[in-house]
Amino acid sequence: MNKILVTGAAGQLGTELTQKLCEIHGSEAIIASDINQNSSAKFSFCQFMVLDVMDKNSLRNAIINEKITQVYHLAAILSATAEQKPLLAWKLNIDSLLILLDLAKELKLDRVFWPSSIAVFGKESPKINTAQDAVQTANTVYGISKMAGERWCDYYYSHHNVDVRSLRFPGLIGYKAKPGGGTTDYAVDIFHKALAGQVFRSFLEKETRLPMMYMPDATKATIDLMQAPSDNITVRSSYNLTAMSFTPEEIFLELKKHFPEFKIKYQPDYRQEIASNWPQTIDDQYARNDWNWQQEYDLPEMTKDIIKNLPYWIDKI
Ligand code: SER
Repeated sequence: MNKILVTGAAGQLGTELTQKLCEIHGSEAIIASDINQNSSAKFSFCQFMVLDVMDKNSLRNAIINEKITQVYHLAAILSATAEQKPLLAWKLNIDSLLILLDLAKELKLDRVFWPSSIAVFGKESPKINTAQDAVQTANTVYGISKMAGERWCDYYYSHHNVDVRSLRFPGLIGYKAKPGGGTTDYAVDIFHKALAGQVFRSFLEKETRLPMMYMPDATKATIDLMQAPSDNITVRSSYNLTAMSFTPEEIFLELKKHFPEFKIKYQPDYRQEIASNWPQTIDDQYARNDWNWQQEYDLPEMTKDIIKNLPYWIDKI
């Protein structure tokens, strides 16, 4: 049987994407992997392996021995953590992608998925309806690694015919994993504080608008892109993608409808500068035209859904 490998499967996106892939392809076709052995507890429903994506030989052996034909490469260090550990973040984010792209070429993998980010845009990029080809002046370690990674994806597609596909994710919000060191992760944490009856201390200012997406839409976009016929994919760097945009004040007010006593305090830190240089809204017409991207959730619907589900998940994450 041909199998699908997910790297960094225990992270925010991996946790939900692995479940979705099992629903679609059957659990026996999916292998979740992570560098952290303790993550195995999350994957009772499918095969799990400890895998260091920086170790090319281990990755090659896994691909050959398990007959893997597709890889979803999610292992990465996100924006806020990357500013604390710049060289490690660059090394992990770029070296592991190059190792995988090279193995995809050597072992003729059918398909590879790699997430990019709105972080490829920077101070000089337009902030409103940022276009697919808008100028990219990333000035975070994370953003620089995603900019370079996109060029490598495009290179391996055009020079070596590697069918690699990618999305520039906005902030992803889910309830099945803890916040993972991203600047947009305040919008995950705020739900935990509201539910616990605690004051939320926002590390971003009140009016900082960022593009965001609820996790079921992120997994749907990933799978839609991976299932699209190759000829439909006109962007081989990474597709702009969005679902909604909001500020800390707007999500706070949405939560206040459900938790009238909820309180917020604004205490911006170094992450404010990261967020200030990112787009506020994204033009994702290529994704909509090429493979019919359409989101399902807006801010009120997402908020209702998380409030309904988080209490049952809080002990499991
Ligand atoms: N959510 C990511 C971060 O904040 C951006 O892609 O790091």
